[in-house]
Amino acid sequence: MRGFFGKTMTAAAVLAMTTSFARATDVEVLHWWTSGGEAAALNVLKDMLAGQGIGWVDMPVAGGGGEAAMTTLKARVNAGDAPTSVQMLGFDIQDWAEQGSLGNLDEVAAKEGWDAVIPAALQRFAKYDGHWVSAPVNVHSTNWVWINKAALDKTGLAVPTNWDELVTVLDKMKEAGITPIAHGGQPWQDATVFDSMVLAQGVDFYNKAFVELDPEALGGAQMAEAFDHFIKLSSYLDANFSNRDWNLASAMVIKGEAGMQIMGDWAKGEFLKAGQKPGADFVCIRFPGTQGAVSFNSDQFAMFNVDGDDKKAAQLAMAQAIESPTFQSAFNVVKGSVPARTDVPDTDFDDCGKKGIADLAEANAKGSLVGSMAHGHAAPAAVKNAAYDVITGAMNGKFASGTEAATALAAAVAAAK
Ligand code: GAL
Repeated sequence: MRGFFGKTMTAAAVLAMTTSFARATDVEVLHWWTSGGEAAALNVLKDMLAGQGIGWVDMPVAGGGGEAAMTTLKARVNAGDAPTSVQMLGFDIQDWAEQGSLGNLDEVAAKEGWDAVIPAALQRFAKYDGHWVSAPVNVHSTNWVWINKAALDKTGLAVPTNWDELVTVLDKMKEAGITPIAHGGQPWQDATVFDSMVLAQGVDFYNKAFVELDPEALGGAQMAEAFDHFIKLSSYLDANFSNRDWNLASAMVIKGEAGMQIMGDWAKGEFLKAGQKPGADFVCIRFPGTQGAVSFNSDQFAMFNVDGDDKKAAQLAMAQAIESPTFQSAFNVVKGSVPARTDVPDTDFDDCGKKGIADLAEANAKGSLVGSMAHGHAAPAAVKNAAYDVITGAMNGKFASGTEAATALAAAVAAAK
C-alpha cells in the first residue's frame, strides 16, 4: 500500500520517524496496531498523512484489544502530556469526553457532511453532548470464524451453520490430528469468543444481557447455555493457549497447524499479510447461529485537547483524511474491517470484505447490529472488566457448569454497575 497516496515520503514523515518530539504540524498517535496486518493498515494512514505534509510520531503500545494502550494513556494524561490522537473504542471515548479531555471536530464534520454518511451506531460513540470528538476509522465485528480451507476439506464436511454442525467439524478435526481451535488465552480474546456465544442465543437476549445488564438474563438459563458452549469450546484448544497473542493464533490457522480461529475480522489482516486468499486458503463465516446479526466495534481516533492552532489544524486534517472515501476503502481493505461510512463502494474488497459490508448493512437495517461487549461497545469499562474476569475463569476451568458461571457473571456485573 505504500505509495498509494503519495509516491515518496515527505521530509516531515522522515523526521517523524527519527525524533520523538512532535513538531507543530505532526500528529502523535497512540495506538495498539502492532501485528503484521495491523501495521500494514496503519501504514496506509501514515502514508496518506505524509502526502499531506503531516508528520507522524508513533506511540505504539502492543496488546490486542487495547487494554495496555489505555493504561499508558491514563499515565500520559495524568502527567499532563496527552497525545494528539488516540485509537479508542466505544465507551472509553465517552468516558474521556465526559472528563472534558477531548477536542472538537464539529468544523470538519460539518464541512464534510459526516452526519449523513456515518451510521448512527458509530455516532453514538463518536459524538458527546452533540459534538464530534473522534473520527471513526472502521467497523470491525467479533462474530466471525476463520477456517483453514485444507483442514476443513480434510473433514469432508461443509462449513457449519449451527452449533451441532460446528461440534461435528471440531471433532473431525481432532480425529485428523489437527488442533481444532487456535486461541490465545488472554481475557480480551476469551471475551471476544464469548460475544458469539451470547449472540447465538439471539439478538434480544444479547441486548438484555450485555446492553441492558438485566440480572435475570445475565444469570439465567440462556446465559448458562452460552457458558456451556464456551466451556465445550475450551476442550478443543492446544496445551499452550495461555497468554498467546491473537496474531500467533491466526498464524496457527494460516500454517494449517490449527483448524479455525474464532476472532474479529482483524484476523483477516493477518491472512492477507501472509498472502492467503479467501475461498482458496481460508474460509470466513459468521459464528454458527449468528448469521444475520453483527456484534461490532469501531476503531476511532479520539482527538485530545491540544494547545496551539497548528496542532488543532493537524488534528482536523487527520480527521478529514480518515473520513475520506478513498482512505476508507484503501485502509479497510488491508485491515480486515469495513468502512465507517455507508457510501463507500465494496469494489476493492475481497469476498470476506464484501460479506462484511453486506452483513453490516443488513444488520443495521433490521435492528440486529449490537455493540461488542468484549471491545467496549456494549457497556462501560468497569462492567466489561468484571465480565472479563468471569469469562476468563470459565475458559480456564473455574466453573463446574454453565449455570455456575452465569450466576457468577450476574453477581460480578451487579457489583461493577
Ligand atoms: C480491537 C481493535 C482492532 C484490532 C484488535 C486486535 O480492539 O478494534 O482494530 O486491533 O483489537 O488488536
